Amino acid sequence: MHFASLLLTVCWACSLFPNPGKGEVMRGTSFSKCTGFFFKRKEPSGIVPNHSARICQSYKNRYHFATMYDRDLRIPLYSAYVFERNAGGCRSDEWLIEPQLVNLSYSRNMEEERSSNIDKNKLEESQAVTADYVPTSSTYDRGHLNPCSHQEEQDSKIATFSLTNIVPQLNTLNQGKWREYEEGLTAKTAGCKKVYVVVGVIPGKSKINNRVYVPSDIWSAVCCVIKKRTKTWAVIASNNANKVNDINVTDLEKKIQSYTGRGVKLFPAMC
Ligand SMILES: *[C@@H]1O[C@H](CO)[C@@H](O)[C@H](O)[C@H]1NC(C)=O
Ligand SMILES: *[C@@H]1O[C@H](CO)[C@@H](O)[C@H](O)[C@H]1NC(C)=O
Ligand SMILES: *[C@@H]1O[C@H](CO)[C@@H](O)[C@H](O)[C@H]1NC(C)=O
Repeated sequence: MHFASLLLTVCWACSLFPNPGKGEVMRGTSFSKCTGFFFKRKEPSGIVPNHSARICQSYKNRYHFATMYDRDLRIPLYSAYVFERNAGGCRSDEWLIEPQLVNLSYSRNMEEERSSNIDKNKLEESQAVTADYVPTSSTYDRGHLNPCSHQEEQDSKIATFSLTNIVPQLNTLNQGKWREYEEGLTAKTAGCKKVYVVVGVIPGKSKINNRVYVPSDIWSAVCCVIKKRTKTWAVIASNNANKVNDINVTDLEKKIQSYTGRGVKLFPAMC
């Protein structure tokens, strides 16, 4: 009760005044304000880039999912969310940017790139922008990690259009087998009481617009909570083929580890 009213006070304040310290980009080394998107509140271990930003994805003063952003590569390494159901109904012309990647004292809420007042050069320095993707759009889509279709509420759907949740994804894969995989999750999770998903990438060596790294692989790991039991599985797709492969979580962790060079646990609380 006290906690709830405190939160209300904080949000009331931050919509009226700039509110340093109530940041969406976390200052420390944890997703302190949005750990609820992780199984037992534990973020994956061993997937922390050299210049990281842990983003609690805030839109209209609510957190919708969590993202580990690589500031050097200008792509997310993963987004974590609670899967609701495959709710479809997704289309947006508005792409959103993350003000706090420019300056931690800026708004914690993502905003439309088109209408943002942030200095364009500073924005581009800090993150990927629409102009990075447009020239290569016949090859690469703006591929969602947390897909809009897996969120039920309108604001949560819109929030997935943050460019910090986006990677260059081969368009045949994004619109083909990966989409089928995303659509299939409702059937695959029938019987789960709660479903935690982490979707991420293994970065490759090439870039679009000489700025934004193209993943070599895209993966998704699922933790299904069935009362006291849990069940877990994963898939991985190479970004240059329209194919999604099953892989067990242990093998996936090893693959990611071969990129990060340190031990990886996708669900450290042992889903
Ligand atoms: C991270 O930093 C290390 C040490 O400086 C460097 O060797 C490595 O290439 C960097 N990784 C990335 C992805 O930039
Ligand atoms: C961030 O914004 C604040 C307030 O506008 C300003 O005082 C500060 O110098 C900025 N920091 C950086 C690193 O630009
Ligand atoms: C994962 O798959 C590999 C084969 O690729 C197998 O050796 C291993 O036992 C499996 N691990 C689990 C936990 O099922």
